[in-house]
Amino acid sequence: MTPAPHVPVLREETLGLLNAGPGRRVIDGTFGFGGHAAGLLETGADVLGIDLDAVAQKACREMAGRHPRLICHHGSFRDLDGALRAAGWDGADGLLLDLGVSSWQLDDPAKGFSYRADGPLDLRFDQTRGETAAELLARLDEVAIADLVWRWGEERGSRHIARELVRRRLEAPLLTTTQVREAVQASLPRGVKAEPVLSRVFQALRIAVNDELGALAEVLASLERVLRPGGRLVVISYHSLEDRLVKRFIDRERRDCVCPPETPVCVCRHKAWLRPLTRKAVIASAEEQYDNARSRSARLRAAEII
Ligand SMILES: C[S@@+](CC[C@H](N)C(=O)[O-])C[C@H]1O[C@@H](n2cnc3c(N)ncnc32)[C@H](O)[C@@H]1O
Repeated sequence: MTPAPHVPVLREETLGLLNAGPGRRVIDGTFGFGGHAAGLLETGADVLGIDLDAVAQKACREMAGRHPRLICHHGSFRDLDGALRAAGWDGADGLLLDLGVSSWQLDDPAKGFSYRADGPLDLRFDQTRGETAAELLARLDEVAIADLVWRWGEERGSRHIARELVRRRLEAPLLTTTQVREAVQASLPRGVKAEPVLSRVFQALRIAVNDELGALAEVLASLERVLRPGGRLVVISYHSLEDRLVKRFIDRERRDCVCPPETPVCVCRHKAWLRPLTRKAVIASAEEQYDNARSRSARLRAAEII
């Protein structure tokens, strides 16, 4: 399959905020098709391209053949220490996380990310390891499925959807995207549009299968160790759960005290080590949103290590 092109979101804003240039080492934790990484390489920076997806890693290796300053690592950004060790880097000056799924991954039915095409119910970024969505849906009970759809999809009809999935699972194992689409459609009350609900259900499955929020929390927790003073963090999120996590993290780590407000004297001894570079989340311009539908939900936040 020839993957469809992926247009990097908020490219100029990202490159500006990462302050990349000759001699700076920048980790692109979500290499994808290398749209942002190509821009980083143009600034003269050294780039470490990490991705869980084998197709993305192949694209990285091809690009590395033309760019000696690019190193590729097949793995999760949640283990930055391991990626740095493998690259022989002792630290970095920047980290970019352009979260979520690429256009070419959505368009590939073999990954099962989209309800629009029939495909195996997989939804793993890394198809070489871990539990597929089919295995997850076979293992969980009805309450756990409803909880998953509610938590990671913020879908109000989660209980009806879980009931229908479990009912159908008794007749035949749920193995394809079409089976889940049909179960979701059958669970909806008359007049409710299926598309937004399906988007939220598939988002919930993807987040759960890939433990996306867990990976994000873990990588943020490793930043103080991995980025050097003056190092920059840029995160582009595509749903409120991720954006909230990043916002709260930056807001906490920029403070000298994180005691509850009712505590009269500071007892936490927390010291600020991050300086926010964006007061509010940066969003794509009207022009970019018009040209690239993916950019409409993008929220960019950036911070610098003090
Ligand atoms: C939105 S795309 C990045 C697109 C990229 N910035 C570009 O310009 O082509 C997100 C990428 O992150 C990868 N990904 C998602 N979670 C990951 C994780 N925990 N570790 C490494 N890569 C991950 C996905 O496989 C996907 O290729």
